[in-house]
Amino acid sequence: MAVAQGVFVTGTGTEVGKTVVAAAVARTLAAEGHRVAVFKPAVTGLDEGVETDHALLRRASGSSQSDEEIAPYRYGPPASPHLAAELAGEEIDPERLRERARAAAGGADAIVCEGVGGLLVPLAPSYLVRDLAADLGYPLLVVAGPGLGTINHTLLTLESARGAGLEVAAVALTPWPEKPSEIERSNRETIATLGGVEVLALPHLDLGAPESWPALRI
Ligand SMILES: Nc1ncnc2c1ncn2[C@@H]1O[C@H](COP(=O)(O)OP(=O)(O)OP(=O)(O)O)[C@@H](O)[C@H]1O
Ligand SMILES: [Mg+2]
Repeated sequence: MAVAQGVFVTGTGTEVGKTVVAAAVARTLAAEGHRVAVFKPAVTGLDEGVETDHALLRRASGSSQSDEEIAPYRYGPPASPHLAAELAGEEIDPERLRERARAAAGGADAIVCEGVGGLLVPLAPSYLVRDLAADLGYPLLVVAGPGLGTINHTLLTLESARGAGLEVAAVALTPWPEKPSEIERSNRETIATLGGVEVLALPHLDLGAPESWPALRI
C-alpha cells in the first residue's frame, strides 16, 4: 500500500459499493503477502439475512478477526447507526471505536476500514463518520457509482472531506461496466479534473471467488 498503513473507505452514500471496494483493496494487499486487518465501526441491517459487511471483509482479507474485533457495534435494523444504537438502548462510544480500530491495526501490517453510509452519517448524536475518519488519520478512498448523478455526489463528498482536513487518496467507481457508455467515461474524467483526484474503476466482481478479482491498488 502506497499510503501509510491504512485506508478509510467511505462513499457517496449507502449501498454504493464500499464493502466490495474495501474487500478488493484488502484482498489485493493480502495477495501481496501483507497481514491485513479490516474494521467497520458499526454494522446495521443484520436482520436482512444477506452476507454481512464484516463477513465479506474477513473472507476477502483472509483475516481471522472475530465479528466483535471487526465491527464492535452490530444491530438488526437497517437504520443509521446512531438510531440503531438508540433502538437498542445504547449509544456508540467514540473512544471505544478508536481503541478497537487501533487494536485491529496493531495486529496487522495494514488495515482497511469501511465507513457507514456517507461521511456525514452520525455514529453517535454528535460524532460523525467523518470525525472517526479524522481521528484514525488514514487517507480516504471515496466509493461512488459510475452513472448519472455521480459527479455531484462525489464532488460534494470530496469537498466535505477536504473541508475537514482529510486527505483523499482516490475515488473508486463501481461496478465499472465492461463497455462504459459515453456518460460513464465522461463522469470518470470530469471527477478527476474537477476533483483533482485519481479515479479508479472496479469491474463487476464474482463476490464468491476473491481469487478471481483483479488487483485494486491505491
Ligand atoms: N464491483 C462490483 N462487483 C459486484 N457487485 C458490486 C460491485 N460494486 C457494487 N456491487 C453491488 O452493489 C451492492 C452494494 O454494494 P456494497 O454492499 O459494497 O455497498 P456499501 O456501500 O458497502 O453498502 P452499505 O452502505 O450497506 O455498507 C451490492 O449488492 C454489491 O454486490
Ligand atoms: Mg458496506
